[in-house]
Amino acid sequence: MAVTQSLNVNGKKVAVKVDDPDMPLLYALRDNLGLHGPRFGCGLGQCGACTVHIDGVAVRSCMLPLSSLDAKKKIVTLEGLGTLEKPHPVQKAFIEAQAVQCGYCINGMIMESAAFLATHKNPSEADIKNALAKNLCRCGTHARIVRAVQNAAKA
Ligand code: FES
Ligand code: FES
Repeated sequence: MAVTQSLNVNGKKVAVKVDDPDMPLLYALRDNLGLHGPRFGCGLGQCGACTVHIDGVAVRSCMLPLSSLDAKKKIVTLEGLGTLEKPHPVQKAFIEAQAVQCGYCINGMIMESAAFLATHKNPSEADIKNALAKNLCRCGTHARIVRAVQNAAKA
């Protein structure tokens, strides 16, 4: 039987109607709400492409059942991190460093980095590499990604 789940996404209250209350948040974001920043990579919590923030913490949305959420939890996707006119410092730094090849991993790299920098004001290169160690990039743009995060930390 279909159920309706209330969520708070990018500052707005929304309701999604789903057949399975344990459906992963990622599917609701992409398929019900049309938010395509978070990507489906592995679906197993192993690549980071699906990362979103929940109450400021980077979370793998492919593994998070909708039933574990409610409208009090603040979900932020890449679309809600900044705007075209006013991008988040991490988004701006990724653009300036041209830290993207195919772009598939970049949602996760940006969301993970933004959550990390919110609690680590002056990270070392090793700290940044450690924070992003579980975000996979098949294109090998790691050097530029780390430079972008270093620049965002200084911004
Ligand atoms: S798609 Fe979620 S971690 Fe890979
Ligand atoms: S830029 Fe292609 S997977 Fe990272």
